[in-house]
Amino acid sequence: MRKRIVAGNWKMNTTLAEGMELTKSVIEKSITVPKTIELVLIPPFTSINEITKLTKGTAVKVGAQNCAEWVKGAYTGEVSATMISSIGATYVVIGHSERREFFNEDNKMLYRKIKQALENRLIPIYCCGEKLNERESNKYFEVVEKQVSESLFELTKEQMMQVVIAYEPVWAIGTGKNATSQQAQDMHAFIRTTIAKKFGKEVADSISILYGGSCKPSNAEEIFARPDVDGGLIGGASLVADDFIAIACSF
Ligand code: PGA
Repeated sequence: MRKRIVAGNWKMNTTLAEGMELTKSVIEKSITVPKTIELVLIPPFTSINEITKLTKGTAVKVGAQNCAEWVKGAYTGEVSATMISSIGATYVVIGHSERREFFNEDNKMLYRKIKQALENRLIPIYCCGEKLNERESNKYFEVVEKQVSESLFELTKEQMMQVVIAYEPVWAIGTGKNATSQQAQDMHAFIRTTIAKKFGKEVADSISILYGGSCKPSNAEEIFARPDVDGGLIGGASLVADDFIAIACSF
């Protein structure tokens, strides 16, 4: 059975105090979440250290929103996968559409980041997804296939099995306009088939594929009910503990 994951991407939100408050609230309310669901909090770098301390001894995991493509050295402003791993985080988001758009991250660079993550025992959550014009011109399968193949196909089978994929149509992120559960299912099944062609069915069947983009308590149940949707990467709604927990309880 595939791991089911509900991860909260806080983006550039929350001071340390706000993040700690939110974490405490999530931990408190997480008793209502089925044990089979892995909850992951993904705060800004500045809060990770304290938040991993708060989650110690609980089932809640912590991740980072990005990591450097290099091991270490003269890269002012960058944070390495080793550093992230050293403070107890276990996940890292790689290739979020906001990083692709505002920081020019491309598929090949994201492959190098994924390698860094894996070499430091971090689980990469690799984000892919098409823009609105690519959806409207029916290029979405082509776009996502390119993102998946260019960033993942050089991994070994063993490495691929460690990766979590998040399908996040860019037109659905922060817009309030989520993909329909059918659109999500179609793309998730396509991604799984793409992985199966390269790495085999066993690998493809074992990896978790999350949906992201305006996921909220009112739509999570329908989206999570689809067979190839293994959870969600939640932005806005993850900043409200009740909403994040309600989404996690939607399985
Ligand atoms: P959203 O963001 O839930 O606010 O649409 C999702 C994401 O960017 O991961």
